[in-house]
Formats: sequence, structure tokens, C-alpha cells
Amino acid sequence: MILPPIHDGEDKSSPLKNCIRNNYKHLRKWAKRMNTDCFRLYDRDIKEYPLAIDLYAGRFCVQYFSYDREEEERDTSEVDGVLRSLFGDCPIYSRSRIRRRRLEQYEKRGQEREFFTVCEHGVQFAVNLTDYLDTGLFLDHRAMRRLVASEAKEKRLLNLFAYTCSFSVHAAVSGATYTKSVDMSNTYTLWGRDNFELNHLPLQTNPIIREDCMKFLEYETEKYDIIVIDPPTISRSKRMDEIFEVQKDYGKLITKSLKLLTRDGVVYFSTNYTKFSFDESTIPGCKMEEISSQTIPLDFHKKKIHRSWKLSLFKGAFPPASVPVMNAQ
Ligand SMILES: C[S@@+](CC[C@H](N)C(=O)[O-])C[C@H]1O[C@@H](n2cnc3c(N)ncnc32)[C@H](O)[C@@H]1O
Repeated sequence: MILPPIHDGEDKSSPLKNCIRNNYKHLRKWAKRMNTDCFRLYDRDIKEYPLAIDLYAGRFCVQYFSYDREEEERDTSEVDGVLRSLFGDCPIYSRSRIRRRRLEQYEKRGQEREFFTVCEHGVQFAVNLTDYLDTGLFLDHRAMRRLVASEAKEKRLLNLFAYTCSFSVHAAVSGATYTKSVDMSNTYTLWGRDNFELNHLPLQTNPIIREDCMKFLEYETEKYDIIVIDPPTISRSKRMDEIFEVQKDYGKLITKSLKLLTRDGVVYFSTNYTKFSFDESTIPGCKMEEISSQTIPLDFHKKKIHRSWKLSLFKGAFPPASVPVMNAQ
């Protein structure tokens, strides 16, 4: 676990510095208790500084949300100065919304291959802050990973749109008897395999399938106690027959997943699409509860980072073959 020391100088004139200092002092105690060294240190707390700073085992990842290049350049030098004055010579990596928009089509940004290990609730994950659009670990899902892990002992878990398999790895560490992770990307399925290996977990009982989730759901017959579904807002690829859009396809996706549930099984569904609307009538026979307030971690101050639901079948709706498939729109 790496939590850098803070050089708490006397200078109290910078609001940004004060905010980061206060946030860190508070979060550091929590992080030590939680055996976690990756979390959000600053989350657009001050209107004039529209950015987020994440800390990954002593390295800072700064995301600029501004669309104004001059504002971003001004903020970059100020933020770097503030972080250096508080934390000394820690590495700082910047990500920009302006640059991200241009890169969106491509998975890869660089090829430094600078992977390092972070610790989340005692579980190890490989992170890369230079080469990809995302880092390998979505920090806003930490509380949801913990929730899922707390229910995973002696259970079977299916992780759809698994990315680097963080939900499955947490579940396996917490005693899940079997996990299956499905993702279409070669890069992320290999990364997921590394995450299992980092935690000394066998791949025989934690297989990773490279597949379009919609196709996978056409042929999968195994049953699961927990199914995690965290799809992207939109996805297109040569491997897919059709473009996937969460708002258009969630009904079909959830309905097919419900058919793989055991009698007392649960589905955890989550989306980062801020305009998402969940029409409960598209999934009849199903009990659903929005649990976003439990799954957004304390270090995320913008509470709309994601929304999440827990779904299960009404007893009378089991076996789930009786649940009709309806289109969401
Ligand atoms: C939002 S991320 C999922 C984050 C992940 N659940 C986590 O918390 O770490 C989206 C992932 O979905 C994968 N993906 C996108 N479309 C897919 C599809 N149709 N079938 C399978 N995987 C897909 C991408 O490769 C990416 O890894």
C-alpha cells in the first residue's frame, strides 16, 4: 500500500491547495483503514477548477473536463504546482477531455507499457496511466465491487462487460466458488487474466471469455447466483452484429440475463450514461431497487457519476423462462 506523505506547509492562500490538503487528510485515514491506495482526491469541488484528481498508489491522474484549451493549460501548470508543493516529486499524469474526444475511436493512446499495482480493500489490480483511454480500474465502482464481494462467498458470479475483471477478482477473493467474465476486447481480457494472477486466483474456476455479450447470452446455459452488468453507453465493433446502445438495449440485455439466474439470484445493473431512464415495465416479473446511493463512494462528490439497480425475480416468475422479452423502446 502506497499513501504518500503530505508536506503540509504554512501557505493557506490557494483554495485549490487547501481543498486537496483537507480532502487528503480525511481520506488518508479512511484509506489506511480500508487497505486501499487508489481513490479520488479532488472531484470538481471548486467551480473554477473543473477537474478531477485520482490517486493511484502514489501517482496522480488529473482529468480536465474543460473544453477551453487556454483554461486547461492554465489549470495544468497550477495543479502540477499545487500537487508538487503538497506531495513533492510524485508522478503526475494528465488526461484531457479535448484530447479524449479526438481519441475516442481508439483504444490505445501510447505504448509506455507502464503497469503498476494498486490495492483496493486488500485486492491487487494492475493499472496503467499512460497507454489507454481508461486506467484499468474504474474507481467510482469501488463501493459496488465491495457490495458484490460481500455477497459472493460460495456463490457463482457472471460479470458481463467485464473490462479488466475487477468485479470478478473481488468476488473470487471473497470466496466465490466460480466466476465467469465476458468482454469483447482482447486487451482487456488479457489484462483481466493478469489481475487474477496478481491475486493468485486459478483461471480454471475463473474463466474469461472474449465475446460480444449479446451473442454470449444467446448460447449461455449455466446458472449464476450473481450477475453484474455494467455496459458502456454505446459500443460498436467489427465483432458485433449491431451497435449496442444501453438506452435502447437494456431491456433485452437484462431480460436475457435474468434467465441465467438461480432461484434466489440477483442482477446488479449499472450505467454511467447520465441521461439513462429505466422503464420498469420493460422487465415484468422482476423486483428492482435503485441502489445508487449505496454504490457511489464517499470520495466521489459529483453524485451522478453512475446509477445502479439491484434486480431479482418475483418468486412466481421463477423459472425465468416465463419472463417475456420486450424491447425497451
Ligand atoms: C464501461 S466498461 C465496463 C467496466 C467494468 N464493468 C468495470 O467496472 O471495471 C465497458 C467494457 O465493455 C466492453 N464491451 C463493449 N461492448 C461490448 C460487447 N458488446 N460485448 C462485450 N464487451 C463489450 C469493453 O471492451 C469494455 O471493457
